[in-house]
Formats: sequence, structure tokens, C-alpha cells
Amino acid sequence: MVIITNANEDDLNEIYAIELESFENPYPYSLLRAYYFLAGDLFLVAKDEKGKVLGYSLGVIQYGYRGHVVSIAVKKTERKRGVGSMLLMQLESKFRLKGCSHSYLEVNYRNRAGISFYNKLGYKVVKLQLNYYGRNQHAFIMVKDLLDRIGFE
Ligand SMILES: CC(C)(COP(=O)(O)OP(=O)(O)OC[C@H]1O[C@@H](n2cnc3c(N)ncnc32)[C@H](O)[C@@H]1OP(=O)(O)O)[C@@H](O)C(=O)NCCC(=O)NCCS
Repeated sequence: MVIITNANEDDLNEIYAIELESFENPYPYSLLRAYYFLAGDLFLVAKDEKGKVLGYSLGVIQYGYRGHVVSIAVKKTERKRGVGSMLLMQLESKFRLKGCSHSYLEVNYRNRAGISFYNKLGYKVVKLQLNYYGRNQHAFIMVKDLLDRIGFE
């Protein structure tokens, strides 16, 4: 069983462990903690029935109308079981409820798994942002319309 719920401050150690195993340049613990206070109910965790953290998603709303997926990661041993999809879809629901028309994110242009994941969830590449993560570390900007419109009317 997987439960998606709001993150607690007590979850931060497990979230940080997932962050460390998931990214080449992980966010420092202090930044995750700052986001915990900043993001409010847009910091979500997936837990198993024993309360163990399986993954997290983190978002913020910008200018009142667009949701930014700041980060999402699933514990290595729990991937490819739908946990990431649940975390992202729940974050998108919250964006929608709070009035966002679309959701967007940056992903390392070499992160094939991440790009496939976002594609599957309906995100489209709209731009290549050169050197976004550092020298020669480019990012794709990917966008999803949250109102099921075909284009951006
Ligand atoms: C990206 C990530 C969050 C996906 O989580 P997950 O729980 O494994 O994803 P799901 O099981 O919900 O996968 C949904 C779909 O995404 C795609 N996908 C997921 N992992 C994939 C992989 N390794 N390769 C190709 N496609 C993949 C598939 O289309 C999959 O659908 P399918 O199972 O029907 O084939 C996870 O791989 C992860 O934590 N990666 C490291 C951190 C990261 O790169 N985050 C995203 C960039 S910020």
C-alpha cells in the first residue's frame, strides 16, 4: 500500500537520503528544510504502510498561476511501481485546486528516465536552457497544461 500525504518535518532525514541517492548534485539538507517551510502542503511524501518514506515531490506556485515542480524522487528500490506518478499527479491536483493553469519543470537534458517519466505524465519539452545546472549541464524546460486544453489558448 502506498499513501501520499503532506511531508512532516520528521520525514526530512529520509527525504534527504532519497535525494542523495537520486541526484548527482543533490539539494543540501538545509535547502530541503527551507523548502519544507516555504512549500507548505506542496511538499508531499509517499509512504508505505509502516510509515517509511518511498519518495517525495515538491512544488511551489509562481505568480499565482503556474506550478513549478521543484523536485521529485523515488527511492531506488521502489522505482517503476507507479510511486513517482502518484506523487506528481497529486502535486498537479494541488496546483489545479490553487488556480494554476499549467505546471512546469526543469530536467537535466541527459536524464533519460526523468524525461520519459515526464513525457508519460503529459509534459512536453518547450525549451533547452543552456548551462542551467552549470557549465555544459543543460536543462530541458517541460510544460503541462493542467486544464486539458490542446494548446495555450
Ligand atoms: C523519475 C522518477 C521520479 C520516476 O519514478 P517512478 O516511481 O519510477 O515512476 P513510475 O513508476 O510512476 O513511472 C511512470 C512512467 O515513467 C516512465 N519511466 C519511469 N522510469 C523510467 C525509466 N527508468 N526509463 C524509462 N522510462 C521510465 C515510464 O513510462 C513509466 O511508465 P511504465 O511503468 O508504464 O513504463 C524516478 O526514476 C527517480 O526518482 N529518478 C531520480 C530522480 C529524478 O531523475 N527525478 C526527476 C528529475 S527532477
